[in-house]
Amino acid sequence: MPGLEAIRLHLADEVLPLWRAVQVETNDPDAALPYWAFAWAGGLALGRYLGDHPGIVAGRRVLDVGSGSGLCAIAAMLAGAAAVTGADIDAFAVAAIELNARANGMRVGALRRDVLDDEPPDVDVILAGDCWYEAGLAGRVLPWLQRASARGIHVLVGDPGRRYLPTDDLVRLASYDVRTTTELEDLDHKRARVYAVRSLAGHAASRDDPGRGVGPGGR
Ligand SMILES: C[S@@+](CC[C@H](N)C(=O)[O-])C[C@H]1O[C@@H](n2cnc3c(N)ncnc32)[C@H](O)[C@@H]1O
Repeated sequence: MPGLEAIRLHLADEVLPLWRAVQVETNDPDAALPYWAFAWAGGLALGRYLGDHPGIVAGRRVLDVGSGSGLCAIAAMLAGAAAVTGADIDAFAVAAIELNARANGMRVGALRRDVLDDEPPDVDVILAGDCWYEAGLAGRVLPWLQRASARGIHVLVGDPGRRYLPTDDLVRLASYDVRTTTELEDLDHKRARVYAVRSLAGHAASRDDPGRGVGPGGR
């Protein structure tokens, strides 16, 4: 993956045959799309940002919510995090997180749980890559991240401009061109952005680079 060359992931080329296989395997015609088999644009941007700003996670405990393949969790480990957990509601994602962590020679905790039902956990950093693609999840995830932020947890979001992302509540930190796939998106290249939850935006930038303020324009 451009900009994330160090990361190895088991990914699918096509979504429909794999989705069908999941439906058959689970005997569930309503089984979720295999989100875990793709590196999503939001996660790619967030992973790039962690590579550019490793100080944000180095030595810290990190939760990657909506982890999917484990992309952001693995990027956090590569950036020097002390411990990382990827949480996802999909059992296949949990298996993918473990498998992909192993492919990168590291251990990442994998939790099958709707963590949004709980209070934010005792971690230093929470990552949320591409979690604004549907209204139900979008409506729950930002209030939860804001609660985490209010507790002093450093919260970072990656998103390629999904319709449910409330950018008014976020501060843009950086912007990346990422290569994705037309299996998922209208175009195989997307502009994806990294944000801090508003209340911690200044903190987000100053911790990694004390000399640099956060402007609204990103890069
Ligand atoms: C679009 S994928 C993004 C995956 C990864 N973060 C990335 O950027 O490549 C969104 C993921 O969120 C997971 N998800 C949906 N609702 C969730 C919830 N309530 N708690 C945790 N994960 C959830 C889905 O199963 C899916 O794996």
